Amino acid sequence: MSRKILVTSALPYANGAIHLGHLVEYIQTDIWVRFQKMRGNECWYVCADDTHGTPIMLRAEKEGITPEALIERVHGEHSRDFAGFNVGFDNYYTTHSPETRACAEDIYGKLKAAGLIEVRTIEQYYDPVKQMFLPDRFIKGECPKCGAKDQYGDSCENCGAVYSPTELKSPYSALSGATPVLRSSDHYFFKLSDPRCVEFLQNWTHETGKLQPEVLNKIKEWFTKDENGQGGLGDWDISRDAPYFGIEIPDAPGKYFYVWLDAPIGYLASLKNWFDKGGPKAKYGETRSYAEFIADPKVEQYHFIGKDITYFHTLFWPATLHFSGRKTPDNVFVHGFITVNGGEKMSKSR
Ligand code: 2FM
Ligand code: ZN
Repeated sequence: MSRKILVTSALPYANGAIHLGHLVEYIQTDIWVRFQKMRGNECWYVCADDTHGTPIMLRAEKEGITPEALIERVHGEHSRDFAGFNVGFDNYYTTHSPETRACAEDIYGKLKAAGLIEVRTIEQYYDPVKQMFLPDRFIKGECPKCGAKDQYGDSCENCGAVYSPTELKSPYSALSGATPVLRSSDHYFFKLSDPRCVEFLQNWTHETGKLQPEVLNKIKEWFTKDENGQGGLGDWDISRDAPYFGIEIPDAPGKYFYVWLDAPIGYLASLKNWFDKGGPKAKYGETRSYAEFIADPKVEQYHFIGKDITYFHTLFWPATLHFSGRKTPDNVFVHGFITVNGGEKMSKSR
Protein backbone atom coordinates (compact mmCIF):
# COMPACT_ATOMS: atom_id res chain seq x y z
CA MET A 1 0.00 0.00 0.00
CA SER A 2 1.31 3.44 -0.82
CA ARG A 3 2.44 5.73 1.97
CA LYS A 4 0.64 9.01 2.72
CA ILE A 5 3.19 11.73 3.37
CA LEU A 6 2.55 15.35 4.30
CA VAL A 7 5.51 17.60 3.52
CA THR A 8 6.20 21.29 4.14
CA SER A 9 8.97 23.83 3.54
CA ALA A 10 9.43 26.76 5.93
CA LEU A 11 6.99 29.56 5.22
CA PRO A 12 8.66 32.62 3.66
CA TYR A 13 8.02 35.98 5.31
CA ALA A 14 5.60 38.19 3.40
CA ASN A 15 7.86 41.24 3.46
CA GLY A 16 10.32 40.46 0.73
CA ALA A 17 11.16 38.58 -2.43
CA ILE A 18 12.03 34.91 -2.73
CA HIS A 19 15.84 34.66 -2.92
CA LEU A 20 18.51 32.06 -3.53
CA GLY A 21 18.52 30.91 0.11
CA HIS A 22 14.79 30.19 -0.07
CA LEU A 23 15.06 28.32 -3.34
CA VAL A 24 17.72 25.96 -1.99
CA GLU A 25 15.09 24.72 0.43
CA TYR A 26 12.03 24.68 -1.83
CA ILE A 27 13.87 22.92 -4.65
CA GLN A 28 15.35 20.38 -2.22
CA THR A 29 11.87 19.66 -0.83
CA ASP A 30 10.36 19.56 -4.32
CA ILE A 31 12.90 16.95 -5.43
CA TRP A 32 12.11 14.81 -2.39
CA VAL A 33 8.36 15.14 -3.00
CA ARG A 34 8.74 14.23 -6.70
CA PHE A 35 10.83 11.22 -5.73
CA GLN A 36 8.12 10.02 -3.33
CA LYS A 37 5.43 10.48 -5.98
CA MET A 38 7.51 8.51 -8.51
CA ARG A 39 7.77 5.71 -5.94
CA GLY A 40 3.97 5.56 -6.04
CA ASN A 41 3.46 7.22 -2.67
CA GLU A 42 0.87 9.89 -2.01
CA CYS A 43 3.02 12.87 -1.13
CA TRP A 44 1.27 16.12 -0.29
CA TYR A 45 3.31 19.32 -0.33
CA VAL A 46 1.81 22.42 1.32
CA CYS A 47 3.20 25.83 2.16
CA ALA A 48 2.07 29.42 2.77
CA ASP A 49 3.25 32.97 3.31
CA ASP A 50 4.28 33.85 6.88
CA THR A 51 2.41 37.13 7.21
CA HIS A 52 2.45 38.36 10.82
CA GLY A 53 4.85 40.26 13.06
CA THR A 54 6.55 43.62 13.53
CA PRO A 55 8.81 43.64 10.42
CA ILE A 56 5.78 43.17 8.14
CA MET A 57 3.84 45.87 9.97
CA LEU A 58 6.75 48.29 9.63
CA ARG A 59 7.44 47.42 6.02
CA ALA A 60 3.82 48.23 5.11
CA GLU A 61 4.06 51.50 7.04
CA LYS A 62 7.22 52.41 5.13
CA GLU A 63 5.50 51.73 1.82
CA GLY A 64 2.47 53.74 2.94
CA ILE A 65 0.07 50.82 2.54
CA THR A 66 -1.85 48.53 4.92
CA PRO A 67 -0.27 45.24 6.03
CA GLU A 68 -3.17 43.48 4.30
CA ALA A 69 -2.31 45.15 0.98
CA LEU A 70 1.37 44.31 1.41
CA ILE A 71 0.81 40.62 2.12
CA GLU A 72 -1.64 40.30 -0.74
CA ARG A 73 0.85 41.78 -3.20
CA VAL A 74 3.72 39.65 -1.89
CA HIS A 75 1.54 36.53 -2.08
CA GLY A 76 1.18 37.21 -5.80
CA GLU A 77 4.93 37.74 -6.22
CA HIS A 78 5.85 34.61 -4.26
CA SER A 79 3.31 32.45 -6.11
CA ARG A 80 4.64 33.72 -9.46
CA ASP A 81 8.26 32.99 -8.50
CA PHE A 82 7.55 29.50 -7.17
CA ALA A 83 5.61 28.69 -10.33
CA GLY A 84 8.55 30.04 -12.37
CA PHE A 85 10.86 27.55 -10.66
CA ASN A 86 8.33 24.69 -11.01
CA VAL A 87 8.03 24.20 -7.26
CA GLY A 88 5.08 21.82 -7.16
CA PHE A 89 3.07 22.77 -4.08
CA ASP A 90 -0.31 21.10 -3.74
CA ASN A 91 -1.44 24.25 -1.94
CA TYR A 92 0.17 27.64 -1.30
CA TYR A 93 -1.74 29.66 1.26
CA THR A 94 -1.31 32.41 3.87
CA THR A 95 -1.15 32.53 7.67
CA HIS A 96 -3.44 35.58 7.60
CA SER A 97 -6.44 33.30 7.31
CA PRO A 98 -9.50 32.11 9.23
CA GLU A 99 -8.03 28.59 9.34
CA THR A 100 -4.85 29.82 11.11
CA ARG A 101 -6.85 31.93 13.54
CA ALA A 102 -9.24 29.08 14.44
CA CYS A 103 -6.39 26.60 14.93
CA ALA A 104 -4.28 29.08 16.98
CA GLU A 105 -7.23 29.85 19.24
CA ASP A 106 -7.98 26.15 19.69
CA ILE A 107 -4.34 25.35 20.50
CA TYR A 108 -4.09 28.24 22.97
CA GLY A 109 -7.34 27.14 24.69
CA LYS A 110 -6.03 23.59 25.07
CA LEU A 111 -2.63 24.70 26.41
CA LYS A 112 -4.39 26.95 28.89
CA ALA A 113 -6.75 24.18 30.00
CA ALA A 114 -3.69 21.96 30.53
CA GLY A 115 -2.26 24.56 32.92
CA LEU A 116 0.61 25.37 30.58
CA ILE A 117 -0.02 29.10 30.07
CA GLU A 118 1.21 31.62 32.64
CA VAL A 119 0.94 35.41 32.64
CA ARG A 120 4.00 37.28 33.88
CA THR A 121 5.00 40.91 33.99
CA ILE A 122 8.23 41.60 32.14
CA GLU A 123 10.30 44.70 31.48
CA GLN A 124 11.22 45.55 27.91
CA TYR A 125 12.63 48.43 25.91
CA TYR A 126 9.94 50.81 24.63
CA ASP A 127 10.40 53.45 21.91
CA PRO A 128 8.81 56.65 23.29
CA VAL A 129 8.70 58.23 19.81
CA LYS A 130 7.19 55.28 17.88
CA GLN A 131 5.16 54.38 20.99
CA MET A 132 5.81 50.68 20.77
CA PHE A 133 7.82 47.94 22.42
CA LEU A 134 10.93 47.14 20.42
CA PRO A 135 11.86 43.63 19.31
CA ASP A 136 15.56 42.85 19.99
CA ARG A 137 16.51 43.38 16.35
CA PHE A 138 15.17 46.94 16.42
CA ILE A 139 17.42 48.01 19.28
CA LYS A 140 21.03 48.86 18.55
CA GLY A 141 24.00 49.98 20.59
CA GLU A 142 27.53 49.14 21.63
CA CYS A 143 28.41 45.50 22.31
CA PRO A 144 28.80 44.98 26.08
CA LYS A 145 31.75 42.63 25.48
CA CYS A 146 33.91 44.18 22.75
CA GLY A 147 32.45 47.70 22.46
CA ALA A 148 31.73 47.44 18.69
CA LYS A 149 29.23 50.13 17.68
CA ASP A 150 25.81 49.66 16.05
CA GLN A 151 25.27 46.06 17.14
CA TYR A 152 21.81 44.45 17.36
CA GLY A 153 20.07 43.93 20.68
CA ASP A 154 20.55 40.16 20.75
CA SER A 155 24.08 39.45 19.50
CA CYS A 156 27.30 41.05 18.29
CA GLU A 157 28.38 40.50 14.71
CA ASN A 158 31.92 41.53 15.59
CA CYS A 159 32.74 39.17 18.48
CA GLY A 160 29.78 36.75 18.41
CA ALA A 161 28.65 37.54 21.97
CA VAL A 162 25.00 36.79 22.79
CA TYR A 163 23.26 39.07 25.30
CA SER A 164 19.98 40.75 26.13
CA PRO A 165 19.14 44.27 24.81
CA THR A 166 19.37 45.77 28.29
CA GLU A 167 23.09 44.90 28.35
CA LEU A 168 23.86 47.07 25.27
CA LYS A 169 25.76 50.28 25.99
CA SER A 170 24.18 53.52 24.69
CA PRO A 171 21.11 51.77 23.27
CA TYR A 172 19.01 53.46 20.59
CA SER A 173 15.90 52.57 18.63
CA ALA A 174 16.68 51.49 15.07
CA LEU A 175 13.26 52.90 14.12
CA SER A 176 13.42 56.45 15.48
CA GLY A 177 16.92 56.83 16.87
CA ALA A 178 15.38 57.65 20.27
CA THR A 179 16.85 56.29 23.49
CA PRO A 180 14.53 53.44 24.54
CA VAL A 181 13.02 53.36 28.03
CA LEU A 182 12.24 50.29 30.12
CA ARG A 183 8.53 49.62 30.50
CA SER A 184 6.67 46.71 32.04
CA SER A 185 3.86 44.74 30.45
CA ASP A 186 2.04 41.42 30.96
CA HIS A 187 3.20 38.62 28.70
CA TYR A 188 1.81 35.13 28.13
CA PHE A 189 4.22 32.24 28.48
CA PHE A 190 4.00 28.62 27.35
CA LYS A 191 5.51 26.78 30.34
CA LEU A 192 8.03 24.62 28.54
CA SER A 193 9.96 24.24 31.78
CA ASP A 194 7.01 22.26 33.19
CA PRO A 195 8.26 18.72 33.91
CA ARG A 196 5.61 17.30 31.56
CA CYS A 197 7.04 19.34 28.67
CA VAL A 198 10.66 18.57 29.49
CA GLU A 199 9.93 14.84 29.69
CA PHE A 200 7.91 14.86 26.47
CA LEU A 201 10.56 16.81 24.54
CA GLN A 202 13.43 14.69 25.87
CA ASN A 203 11.61 11.61 24.57
CA TRP A 204 10.46 13.13 21.28
CA THR A 205 13.87 14.49 20.32
CA HIS A 206 15.77 11.36 21.33
CA GLU A 207 13.58 8.74 19.63
CA THR A 208 16.03 6.52 17.80
CA GLY A 209 16.89 7.38 14.26
CA LYS A 210 14.73 10.46 14.13
CA LEU A 211 16.73 13.65 14.06
CA GLN A 212 20.07 14.15 12.31
CA PRO A 213 23.01 13.66 14.76
CA GLU A 214 24.17 17.28 14.33
CA VAL A 215 20.66 18.51 15.16
CA LEU A 216 20.44 16.28 18.20
CA ASN A 217 23.78 17.61 19.46
CA LYS A 218 22.49 21.17 19.24
CA ILE A 219 19.28 20.23 21.03
CA LYS A 220 21.24 18.63 23.87
CA GLU A 221 22.88 22.02 24.49
CA TRP A 222 19.44 23.61 24.86
CA PHE A 223 18.43 21.07 27.49
CA THR A 224 21.61 21.32 29.51
CA LYS A 225 21.88 23.42 32.66
CA ASP A 226 25.26 24.92 33.58
CA GLU A 227 27.09 24.39 36.89
CA ASN A 228 25.00 27.20 38.45
CA GLY A 229 21.74 25.53 37.46
CA GLN A 230 21.18 28.21 34.79
CA GLY A 231 20.04 27.48 31.23
CA GLY A 232 17.99 24.45 30.31
CA LEU A 233 14.60 24.65 28.67
CA GLY A 234 13.03 28.04 29.41
CA ASP A 235 9.39 29.10 29.15
CA TRP A 236 8.39 30.56 25.80
CA ASP A 237 6.97 34.09 25.56
CA ILE A 238 4.09 33.68 23.06
CA SER A 239 2.54 37.18 23.29
CA ARG A 240 3.34 40.61 21.90
CA ASP A 241 1.78 43.97 22.69
CA ALA A 242 -0.19 46.16 20.31
CA PRO A 243 0.58 47.66 17.86
CA TYR A 244 1.21 44.30 16.20
CA PHE A 245 0.00 42.76 12.96
CA GLY A 246 -1.23 39.31 13.94
CA ILE A 247 -3.90 37.33 15.76
CA GLU A 248 -5.28 38.85 18.94
CA ILE A 249 -5.26 36.50 21.93
CA PRO A 250 -8.91 35.61 22.68
CA ASP A 251 -9.10 36.62 26.34
CA ALA A 252 -6.46 39.34 26.25
CA PRO A 253 -7.35 42.58 24.46
CA GLY A 254 -4.29 44.38 23.06
CA LYS A 255 -2.17 41.19 23.22
CA TYR A 256 -1.29 39.24 20.08
CA PHE A 257 0.15 35.81 19.45
CA TYR A 258 3.86 36.11 18.68
CA VAL A 259 4.30 35.33 14.98
CA TRP A 260 6.23 32.14 15.78
CA LEU A 261 3.19 30.71 17.55
CA ASP A 262 0.99 30.98 14.45
CA ALA A 263 3.61 30.48 11.70
CA PRO A 264 3.86 26.66 11.89
CA ILE A 265 0.11 26.52 12.42
CA GLY A 266 0.11 27.86 8.86
CA TYR A 267 1.22 24.38 7.71
CA LEU A 268 -1.99 22.90 9.06
CA ALA A 269 -4.06 25.86 7.89
CA SER A 270 -2.79 25.39 4.35
CA LEU A 271 -3.70 21.71 4.48
CA LYS A 272 -7.16 22.51 5.88
CA ASN A 273 -7.69 25.14 3.17
CA TRP A 274 -6.78 22.58 0.52
CA PHE A 275 -9.31 20.11 1.98
CA ASP A 276 -11.98 22.83 1.97
CA LYS A 277 -11.28 23.48 -1.70
CA GLY A 278 -11.75 19.75 -2.45
CA GLY A 279 -8.12 19.27 -3.53
CA PRO A 280 -7.36 15.98 -1.76
CA LYS A 281 -10.53 14.34 -3.08
CA ALA A 282 -9.96 15.49 -6.65
CA LYS A 283 -6.24 14.64 -6.70
CA TYR A 284 -5.95 11.56 -4.47
CA GLY A 285 -9.54 10.35 -4.02
CA GLU A 286 -9.23 11.20 -0.29
CA THR A 287 -12.73 11.05 1.17
CA ARG A 288 -11.91 11.73 4.81
CA SER A 289 -12.20 15.13 6.45
CA TYR A 290 -9.16 17.28 7.27
CA ALA A 291 -9.55 16.40 10.97
CA GLU A 292 -9.60 12.65 10.30
CA PHE A 293 -6.65 12.85 7.92
CA ILE A 294 -4.38 14.88 10.17
CA ALA A 295 -5.11 12.65 13.18
CA ASP A 296 -4.29 9.43 11.28
CA PRO A 297 -1.10 7.96 12.78
CA LYS A 298 -0.32 6.36 9.39
CA VAL A 299 -0.03 9.79 7.72
CA GLU A 300 3.66 10.73 7.90
CA GLN A 301 4.48 14.39 8.52
CA TYR A 302 7.83 15.94 7.58
CA HIS A 303 9.09 19.53 7.74
CA PHE A 304 12.04 20.78 5.68
CA ILE A 305 13.76 23.77 7.34
CA GLY A 306 17.03 25.71 7.58
CA LYS A 307 19.18 25.21 10.68
CA ASP A 308 18.42 28.69 12.06
CA ILE A 309 14.85 27.68 12.89
CA THR A 310 15.59 24.28 14.42
CA TYR A 311 14.62 25.49 17.91
CA PHE A 312 11.12 26.38 16.79
CA HIS A 313 10.54 23.13 14.91
CA THR A 314 12.10 20.57 17.26
CA LEU A 315 11.01 22.06 20.58
CA PHE A 316 8.19 24.61 20.36
CA TRP A 317 6.25 23.02 17.51
CA PRO A 318 6.16 19.39 18.77
CA ALA A 319 5.25 20.63 22.26
CA THR A 320 2.52 22.90 20.88
CA LEU A 321 1.04 20.02 18.92
CA HIS A 322 1.34 17.38 21.63
CA PHE A 323 -0.09 19.43 24.49
CA SER A 324 -3.03 20.52 22.36
CA GLY A 325 -3.87 16.86 21.72
CA ARG A 326 -2.44 16.65 18.21
CA LYS A 327 -0.11 14.28 16.40
CA THR A 328 3.54 15.37 16.28
CA PRO A 329 5.84 15.47 13.21
CA ASP A 330 7.60 12.24 12.21
CA ASN A 331 10.75 14.14 11.43
CA VAL A 332 12.29 17.53 10.70
CA PHE A 333 14.89 17.67 7.91
CA VAL A 334 17.42 20.42 8.56
CA HIS A 335 19.76 21.97 5.97
CA GLY A 336 22.60 24.49 6.36
CA PHE A 337 23.19 27.88 4.78
CA ILE A 338 24.67 28.74 1.42
CA THR A 339 28.11 30.18 2.11
CA VAL A 340 30.50 32.40 0.16
CA ASN A 341 34.17 33.39 0.48
CA GLY A 342 35.13 30.08 2.05
CA GLY A 343 32.43 29.71 4.67
CA GLU A 344 30.81 33.09 5.35
CA LYS A 345 27.03 33.03 5.54
CA MET A 346 25.47 34.58 2.44
CA SER A 347 23.38 37.55 3.50
CA LYS A 348 20.93 39.89 1.82
CA SER A 349 21.75 42.77 4.14
CA ARG A 350 25.47 42.51 3.43
O1 2FM B 1 12.46 32.00 9.27
C1 2FM B 1 11.55 32.26 8.49
O2 2FM B 1 11.75 32.69 7.36
C2 2FM B 1 10.14 31.98 8.92
N1 2FM B 1 9.22 32.75 8.13
C3 2FM B 1 9.85 30.51 8.79
C4 2FM B 1 8.53 30.07 9.30
S1 2FM B 1 8.41 28.38 9.16
C5 2FM B 1 7.00 27.93 9.89
F1 2FM B 1 7.14 27.68 11.10
F2 2FM B 1 6.06 28.67 9.61
ZN1 ZN C 1 31.15 42.33 20.47
